[in-house]
Amino acid sequence: MSVITVIPGDGIGPEVIEQALETLDVLGLDVDIDVLDHINAGTYLRDGAAMTDRDLERIRRSRATLLGAVGDPRLSSPEYARGVLLRLRFELDLYVNYRPVTLWHPRLSPLRDSAGGGLNCLIIRENSEGLYAGVGGRLRADTEHEVAIDAEISTWHGVSRVIDFAFSVARTKVCMVDKSNAVPHGGRLWQRCWRHQVGEHPGIAASHLYVDTAAMALVADPAAFDVIVTNNSYGDILSDLAAELAGGVGTAASVNLNAETGYGVYEPVHGSAPDIAGQGLANPVGAVLSTALMVERLGHRAEADAMRRAVGAAITARRCTPDLGGSLTTKDAGAAIRAELE
Ligand code: NAD
Ligand code: IPM
Ligand code: MN
Repeated sequence: MSVITVIPGDGIGPEVIEQALETLDVLGLDVDIDVLDHINAGTYLRDGAAMTDRDLERIRRSRATLLGAVGDPRLSSPEYARGVLLRLRFELDLYVNYRPVTLWHPRLSPLRDSAGGGLNCLIIRENSEGLYAGVGGRLRADTEHEVAIDAEISTWHGVSRVIDFAFSVARTKVCMVDKSNAVPHGGRLWQRCWRHQVGEHPGIAASHLYVDTAAMALVADPAAFDVIVTNNSYGDILSDLAAELAGGVGTAASVNLNAETGYGVYEPVHGSAPDIAGQGLANPVGAVLSTALMVERLGHRAEADAMRRAVGAAITARRCTPDLGGSLTTKDAGAAIRAELE
């Protein structure tokens, strides 16, 4: 029996997680669900913390975590998200943020007239350092003379392992994205790790783009990409861009992963979407596909493939939410996926 921790979170998080769990249930796998539904913005506002050390211990004892979304319009500072999502990423050393992008139907892409080539790429985002490391500080805070520094951390170990992982999951090619024409120190380190890793993986084609050009190329010719590997902040931005090209953030799945321990926090790429929360408008596909990634990592490849086929069939039949051109509610869109699965 595998224990799966579930953190529904905020906004549409609980709505899409409900559909993900019902879909998981249909598979009949031998899993036990441990729901931590107190980890949300309400708890943070009341207690000043949402995820405790004890929660983290419980999470560590589970095989994987499935998370909806964290974020609340009442909170303007990053402490809450850092205390949940980034704490999980950093303390569990989930150094890979694995974000596959699939265009399920040409009609979904804003590039629909040129989307014939398809779009099926994977963004591997460095998830344990970069601008997110929290290194820095403020001097003369809250005055007109305030100085604020967020140092961008790149380590040889951190960059090498994520590039190595990108090669390990590539089908045909890896494109490394950085800004080494302008960012001198980290840029040089990324380039050095990259050259080393390219030499270690002779069977996979390797290319490099600066991030501005990569954004342009993703729009101009998305079918040209297989695996993109990049730093924490560029990966954050490019994964939303790519998701939108494939029909919107509502479809995008991800896992925060440590490739050595195998531990993963699985979550849709989207946030808590307060603008549509509570209205039955949230697309459950990103959460269902994140669950498919989890099911696959737990050793059930056939079931994961069946989930992905069911999602594709429901979308093709327009049995989906309005963001994908359908007219179903979150619950009915989840039921449509399950109907294809059964
Ligand atoms: P968001 O992803 O929540 O929403 C962006 C836009 O996409 C909105 O218009 C929203 O309605 C739409 N959208 C998102 N998910 C959708 C879905 N499943 N179906 C249909 N439409 C969907 O981004 P935001 O508005 O910038 O952030 C809202 C909050 O979520 C913030 O507090 C932010 O920090 C947080 N956030 C959390 C995560 C996470 O938990 N992993 C990720 C991103 C943002
Ligand atoms: C994501 C989110 C998070 C990030 C936020 C909520 C801290 O945007 O998972 O992509 O920037 O990593
Ligand atoms: Mn993001």
